[in-house]
Amino acid sequence: MSSIKVWDLPTRFFHWLLVLSFAGAFLTAESERNRDLHVLLGYTVLGLIVFRLLWGLIGSRYARFYSFVCSPKVVVLYLCQLIQKQAQHPVGHNPAGAVVIVLLLLLGLGSGLSGWAVYEDIGADWLTEWHELISNAMLVVVCIHITGVVVSSYLQGENLIAAMVTGKKLGHVNQAIASNVASLAWLLLAVVIGLWIWAWPASKDLNWLLHTFSWW
Ligand code: HEM
Repeated sequence: MSSIKVWDLPTRFFHWLLVLSFAGAFLTAESERNRDLHVLLGYTVLGLIVFRLLWGLIGSRYARFYSFVCSPKVVVLYLCQLIQKQAQHPVGHNPAGAVVIVLLLLLGLGSGLSGWAVYEDIGADWLTEWHELISNAMLVVVCIHITGVVVSSYLQGENLIAAMVTGKKLGHVNQAIASNVASLAWLLLAVVIGLWIWAWPASKDLNWLLHTFSWW
């Protein structure tokens, strides 16, 4: 096995932009004066998830849903093999990680859509509670995700976090993706940064940062 390209650039940019946007949206959620910033980051999460759902249909090999979405039976089998140390080295997402990823995408979609409905005053008070509930559930799943990534890295003997940065994992040469699709990734980054700059005047109050640090 050698180091091969597995994660294309759009998938990696999507991931780290999602991390930033979700963290920012969560940190600004409680503050009334940072409502605009919270809404901007929430819309970014929603836009990124919509992009990823499309990329899951037309993206490169390991980004496509058919390469990692699997039945509960496959997940249980994988976990049993993992315990017996007989699990095959996964080139893309492993079946257990894939479940968490699907959950994160669904919760991100739910959180973004419910947030949009609350902001636009569509629906009653219960929507606000659902928005909070879905977002808190997402935080719990994010913690499970990070723990899973660290544990899988240890069990597989491969740094999966570095792989999400470089796009490279261990595999056979014929398992590598053909293209990094870099132009689409830069376009995605430009759209997100463009949106942030365009909406900045309304969201420039960064007092939440000071509050967060003084709280620590
Ligand atoms: C610093 C914290 C985080 C680290 C270190 C991290 C790391 C990773 C890694 C290594 C993978 C690939 C897993 C694999 O090899 O199968 C991954 C995938 C993923 N992570 Fe994270 N993650 C973090 C935070 C988050 C957050 C906050 C979210 C959501 C809000 C998230 C959502 C996802 C999704 C959706 C994928 C699937 C990527 C794709 O196929 O597009 N991650 N993460």
